[in-house]
Amino acid sequence: MRILITGGAGFIGSHLAEAYLENGDEVYIIDDLSTGSLDNIVHLREPYRKKLFVHVDTIMSRNMMLELVGTCDVVHHLAAAVGVEYILDNPLASITTNIQGTEIVLELCNKFKKRVLIASTSEVYGKHMHAPLVETDNIIYGPSSKFRWSYAASKLMDEFMALAYFRTTGLQVTVARLFNTVGPRQTGSYGMVIPRLVKQALRNEPLTVYGDGNQTRTFTDVSDVVWAFMRMVENKEAFGQVFNVGGIEEVSILNLAKRIIEACGSSSQIQFIPYDKAFGKDFEDMQRRVPGIEKIANLTGFDPKADLDVILTKVIRYMRSHLKE
Ligand SMILES: NC(=O)c1ccc[n+]([C@@H]2O[C@H](COP(=O)([O-])OP(=O)(O)OC[C@H]3O[C@@H](n4cnc5c(N)ncnc54)[C@H](O)[C@@H]3O)[C@@H](O)[C@H]2O)c1
Repeated sequence: MRILITGGAGFIGSHLAEAYLENGDEVYIIDDLSTGSLDNIVHLREPYRKKLFVHVDTIMSRNMMLELVGTCDVVHHLAAAVGVEYILDNPLASITTNIQGTEIVLELCNKFKKRVLIASTSEVYGKHMHAPLVETDNIIYGPSSKFRWSYAASKLMDEFMALAYFRTTGLQVTVARLFNTVGPRQTGSYGMVIPRLVKQALRNEPLTVYGDGNQTRTFTDVSDVVWAFMRMVENKEAFGQVFNVGGIEEVSILNLAKRIIEACGSSSQIQFIPYDKAFGKDFEDMQRRVPGIEKIANLTGFDPKADLDVILTKVIRYMRSHLKE
């Protein structure tokens, strides 16, 4: 099969590309390298030179997308402005990419009748306190003056657009609401917590914990997410549906920082930073984010294999070998 991965030079996209190539498929990537990097896929270029086709371009280029969607059998749409810090730094471009970019992908998948998976985010739930979050839960956002919600709102619009195509034209589209996904090649540069804290620990610098550190998250290993994506896009029962994809172990960011210090054998201390100092006044955090994964488990047998210790071991090993002093 020919697989198009938008954002394929990014963290998750590069792992997805690798899995499809190992499977014997052809992989087409479009990525503008805004947060991704060719370094993420450089190891694939030589062994798969006849099966991997990389286009450094934006998904906003309709002509390029027309050619790529027309060529491929399946589309995984991962290209997006990602990460709270990146969104706050690039408010307008982020909304444009996430809404207009997805519109182009969906319109062309519909034109050529191609199956498509849309990567959404647990951020769409907004500021819930209960757990677990299930796909039918209400959505609670702060005011539009708090720009951090623009990421959630733009991804929610993507979901509506995808579901509207399914209802109106029968487009074979599936939405994956990803909870925090972690693994090698994720960069801490755009606010992703584990790589940022691991980097600080390996450098014996203070680990910066925002707020009081009691906010909790669950983390999923990227290999579990890739496994789920490959099955979801194939499954007819998944079309026109939204699925949480996430891990099961809930951990506070403070405890996460302590575990990272221990796992790295670091002499770092923990430094608490108030949210407004870290992100300015536009910021509000989500206190808890735990996925209900019954729906995806029923569909695919999803059962995340990597727990937090395994995830941390993998990330620390990767960052030790890649950290530039
Ligand atoms: N990593 C997570 O924890 C997480 C959680 C929830 C949702 N997601 C979603 O998963 C997807 C992949 O995220 P990731 O963590 O791999 O981040 P990433 O930043 O590594 O990947 C996004 C990729 O999209 C590319 N891109 C951005 N704008 C583009 C454009 N206009 N044209 C072409 N390429 C463009 C970037 O260069 C990057 O390579 C995103 O849609 C994100 O919203 C990720």
